[in-house]
Amino acid sequence: MAKALKTIRNKAGDAPIEAALILGSGLSDVGTLLDGKITIPFSELKGFPQGGVSGHGKELLIGEMGGRRIAILTGRQHYYEHGDPAAMRPALETLKQLGVRTLLLTNSAGSLDRDVPPGNLMLIADHINHAGVNPLIGEDTDARFVNMVDAYDPTLRAATHAIAARLEIALKEGVYMWYSGPSFETPAEIRMAQVLGASAVGMSTVPEVILGRFFGMRVWACSSITNMGAGMAEETISHTQTKEVAKWGAEKLMRLLPALVEEL
Ligand code: HPA
Repeated sequence: MAKALKTIRNKAGDAPIEAALILGSGLSDVGTLLDGKITIPFSELKGFPQGGVSGHGKELLIGEMGGRRIAILTGRQHYYEHGDPAAMRPALETLKQLGVRTLLLTNSAGSLDRDVPPGNLMLIADHINHAGVNPLIGEDTDARFVNMVDAYDPTLRAATHAIAARLEIALKEGVYMWYSGPSFETPAEIRMAQVLGASAVGMSTVPEVILGRFFGMRVWACSSITNMGAGMAEETISHTQTKEVAKWGAEKLMRLLPALVEEL
């Protein structure tokens, strides 16, 4: 980790990085928004996501957005890749050391809310950790007992709704339920998720939210809805579809995010 920190400082300088943005499947176009961009492949950064999933990038980008210096991770490591819920911990700890105070997370997700069909964004207000594992298992300090009330920063959420209204982007918020993946859910699992109060399902983000709060960051997360939950529509759910439809959400995120970053 110290090595990654040194590599980043050597390439991007010492000026603090205020926020970090992690891009979900099919959302890498968002990275083109950065001005004065410095690109560092994850392969040069020990502890950053190696391996990879199609539709995700493998680079750390540092540059300016909304008048602030931010970092963008064009991809992430998922629990389903290696079975390690703490896989993103070294990367997030490095970002913390670079000065990051706000963590912005994006993902692709299936919707359980018929009013939020594919192509829409859903702001995450809370989550259900259905995967049942936690990235802080094994942490041996009292800091592990992280309070998860208002984990998704209420002030940032309110600001996002105001920006979305101004930009005429439809935006509902809801509860994201984390399934481990990599198989998609069964229709019965989707019905269960609805009964339990979830509005969207996905295979990421929750471990990063827990880690972000552990590191004392303000956390914001938004889903790009790529499909209705399994069994809710005629379509066959696939990763190819996820990557394709995520682009519609990417276009909305590319309008929303610079305005949000400006207000951080
Ligand atoms: N389930 C889980 N993860 C997803 C989905 C889904 O329906 N769509 C995109 N990511």
